[in-house]
Amino acid sequence: MNQAQEIRAFPFPHRDGLDPVPEFTELRRTDPVIRVRLPSGDPAWLVTRHADVRRVLADPCFSRARATRGEGPRINRTTTLPDSILAADPPDHSRLRRLVAPALSGRRAEAMRGGIALLAGQLLADMNRGPRPADLVASFTRPLPLTVICDLLGTPRIDGDQLDAWNDAMRSVTAVSDAEVLAAVADMTDYLTRLIAAKRAHPGDDMLSALIAARDAGDRLSEGELISFCVVLLAGGYGTTADRLAGLAHLLLDRPERYQLLCREPESVPAAVEELLRYAQATVGANLRVATRDVVLSGVEIKEGEALIPLTSSANHDEDVHDAPDLLDLTRAAPAHLAFGYGAHFCVGAQLARVQLQEALAALVGRFPGLRAAGPPDWKRGQITRAPRTVPVRW
Ligand code: HEM
Repeated sequence: MNQAQEIRAFPFPHRDGLDPVPEFTELRRTDPVIRVRLPSGDPAWLVTRHADVRRVLADPCFSRARATRGEGPRINRTTTLPDSILAADPPDHSRLRRLVAPALSGRRAEAMRGGIALLAGQLLADMNRGPRPADLVASFTRPLPLTVICDLLGTPRIDGDQLDAWNDAMRSVTAVSDAEVLAAVADMTDYLTRLIAAKRAHPGDDMLSALIAARDAGDRLSEGELISFCVVLLAGGYGTTADRLAGLAHLLLDRPERYQLLCREPESVPAAVEELLRYAQATVGANLRVATRDVVLSGVEIKEGEALIPLTSSANHDEDVHDAPDLLDLTRAAPAHLAFGYGAHFCVGAQLARVQLQEALAALVGRFPGLRAAGPPDWKRGQITRAPRTVPVRW
């Protein structure tokens, strides 16, 4: 690190949109591993190059458990879900992962494709009958993943507004106070405890029943782990997917020629989804990792016990890996992006997410070739991820 520089506060100031972040480009070039100060007051190393980010995500010497349990560096002072899959290291992590991986396999996701396409078509038909302009988030990008995750878990349709309020609080870096985060987690835990009790009484052929069976049949899952699983599945399965879908739709509509390209060539949608995921600067920060021994990254010495932020958004624009990384090229061949993470915690729902994004965008360009933005989106602020709260559209 350049010693003349002061330690910078991280996250950097909010910016609207999902386009490249010039600060990250500069850091990759000059200070690829730089000391920053988190909202908690704790220091951390911000890691911005692709090779280093991949290493931090894949090397078991970087621990999630130490970033979530006991004393240690934190993003803010609330420790949420210390018994979740995302907070576990092996062997706990491997045990938890085995419980959900089969239900989220590529084969299972493909089996859901037809139903997801049908649902996308129905939601868009409803939007078409409603007033114009419309908000694509309220009409389409929220209800689609909400319905998919509720069906997968076998829960009743959870109130989307309530879930959004909980998700927003749990993703907050600076948006709400620590007390509000804790209150949201307590409310959600309460709600899920009641949901689990109802499901225990009436099990079905669904993911929640399978998790409850694993809990009740032996010692494969504790009650706390069961609740944390539901929170992570709802947050990832619904919240992240809804945010990402809204962001991708915004990027297409922001430049009409992008949207028109997919209308003309709908067979390009799967490749376009990968490129949009790579391009979108959708993560402001990342789940912290803590070094369990001294390590050197890009020439910088990291000491045991120090925290790191592996910034996948930045890695996805690393010029050492991608040609013209700041160009959104919808025909780019299979960009190797890190939008679903890497290593042990690689998104277990990635295939289901891909099916949803592909079917949603295919339905959109198929049904609404004349869709256009009806004004700028309103953006979420102060959260670990960056996403539009609204995407106004007309047709
Ligand atoms: C576009 C949508 C999605 C994106 C961009 C996304 C992204 C991610 C990322 C980056 C991670 C790794 C986090 C880390 O290493 O700290 C992750 C983990 C996870 N995601 Fe997703 N996700 C999405 C959709 C989903 C869906 C649909 C589900 C489930 C239905 C899901 C469930 C999970 C779970 C359970 C984990 C934890 C995996 C582990 O710790 O082993 N995600 N996701």
